[in-house]
Amino acid sequence: MNIRQLLTEKAEAAMLAAGIPAGANASVAPSKKAGFGDYQINGAMAAAKQLKTNPRELAARIVEYLDLTDIATKVEVAGPGFINIDLNPAWLSDQVTHLLHDARLALDKVAEPLKVVIDYSAPNLAKEMHVGHIRSTIIGDSLARLLEFQGHKVIRQNHVGDWGTQFGMLIAELEEHLAGNESANIALKDLEKFYQQSKQHFDQDENFAQKARDYVVKLQGGDARILELWQEFKSISLAHGEENYRKLNVTLTPKDVMGESAYNDDLPVLVADLVNKGIAVEDQGAKVAFLDEMKDKEGNPSVVIIQKQGGGFLYATTDLAAMRHRVNTLGANRIMYFIDARQSLHMQQVFTLGRKAGYAGDAVSLEHHAFGTMMGTDGKPFKTRSGGTVKLAELLDEAVERATKVVAEKNTELSSQEVSEIGRKVGIGAVKYADLSKTRTNDYVFNWDAMLAFEGNTGPYLQYAYTRIQSIFRKAGGLPTTAVISLETEQEKALALRLLQLAEAFEQMSTEALPHVLCNYLYELASLYMSFYEACPMLKEGIDEQVKNSRLMLSQATAKTLALGLDMLGIEVSEKM
Ligand code: ARG
Repeated sequence: MNIRQLLTEKAEAAMLAAGIPAGANASVAPSKKAGFGDYQINGAMAAAKQLKTNPRELAARIVEYLDLTDIATKVEVAGPGFINIDLNPAWLSDQVTHLLHDARLALDKVAEPLKVVIDYSAPNLAKEMHVGHIRSTIIGDSLARLLEFQGHKVIRQNHVGDWGTQFGMLIAELEEHLAGNESANIALKDLEKFYQQSKQHFDQDENFAQKARDYVVKLQGGDARILELWQEFKSISLAHGEENYRKLNVTLTPKDVMGESAYNDDLPVLVADLVNKGIAVEDQGAKVAFLDEMKDKEGNPSVVIIQKQGGGFLYATTDLAAMRHRVNTLGANRIMYFIDARQSLHMQQVFTLGRKAGYAGDAVSLEHHAFGTMMGTDGKPFKTRSGGTVKLAELLDEAVERATKVVAEKNTELSSQEVSEIGRKVGIGAVKYADLSKTRTNDYVFNWDAMLAFEGNTGPYLQYAYTRIQSIFRKAGGLPTTAVISLETEQEKALALRLLQLAEAFEQMSTEALPHVLCNYLYELASLYMSFYEACPMLKEGIDEQVKNSRLMLSQATAKTLALGLDMLGIEVSEKM
């Protein structure tokens, strides 16, 4: 059930009947202020301008043809030509009842599913995952979950960095550890340390450095022993990643890994193709594309190197090969890249080149969904006290530790097993929600106290709202199975209306890739529930059985909506807290 969509269809039919040419936008939206109805049709003004007629008169004519029998109790022209709609409480209650008895909360799957490739997480395997990877991983995963729920075919692609010159150095280092009879797992237990160690080795020992360079050549040449070492390194590093995904409750699996190295064989083919098409040219021994489509202010074209002088390929070359694979082999209609805003120029160049070369035709949507940097409370990029990068695994452990402490203090009746399970959900939920609830494109400040608060727009607040409803059910001694929902008070009506707007939040989040839209929706829903809870008693002595049951049903619809919404964000709820 999508109210906005339903009203849009009705409004468009009325506009047509009122003599407005097809294609005019009805501009239906929920009303922002009280007293202006629940929804507004705002399209009369623009249509009147087109037709050069009086907007209020046109609005009145639209209303004449607008058939909202049963749906609305009042339809009114206001101001310069707004059409305000008051929805019928009886209709709203029918819709909520329907929602409650449907496993998908009455949210239909899309009629025309797309094949959506989602490029997210994509850490560099040479190093440990750090906080810099958290945003892509969390935001991308929420979109993967939602688009899948909507019925699209989602193909996750973890474009990990598993190729490049640093692997020569890492393999040479690994080889020495193995020769010293250390297992690879032990040697690579702390990837960050291992990386630093090998870098130091490389900088200080010319023999080692020479070997490392030699291994790069061998790796590229397909030397079996070097490839084996590389594979070993890769699989251990990937296992570290898996561990982080598991902790984070992220849906990426090993089969989603399609690293940079997967495109190696295609790179020379691709470069030849770009040269053949006249898109790339030889320039001082390198192959370069000059993009007039992306000229700067002085009129200089944007320059993209796709093959270096010595023959090496670049990040952009690999991304072009990946695009071609995604379109041709995976059949993508929509490709969503969740990558740091600092790579915007790179993405724009790749998109421009891909379009030019015909790797992605007009039917394929290429979308870079950029995000800002995670900052510390000091206003600088988030770092450890000593200025180092914060490892993702350690950050998540700290989140769980802090949350577990809060949970144990808040509810002393929980068993220690419950405390640790709830602490895990709250800690991870808090980190994820803090990120997802901020406008994606902005930088955001990572603040433990703010994200772990049980009040305000936080993960714990929403999880707690869910749990509170569950505890009401326990006190009520179960749930009515066949009750009629009746919306008597303002609070009940407002809650019901908001419950029915999940579809709209989902739609906006999935088209614009903006999880904060869903977060805001859930926060408002939880707040409306709290007002309802204050105003509409359920467990009071002597309360009318029907009223009580109706309110319990509304509570149940709220709990289900919160749980589904949070699930789309990859956040778990608990029966107790
Ligand atoms: N590995 C890259 C990094 O850590 C991110 C890759 C993003 N995806 C892509 N298709 N370029 O910066």
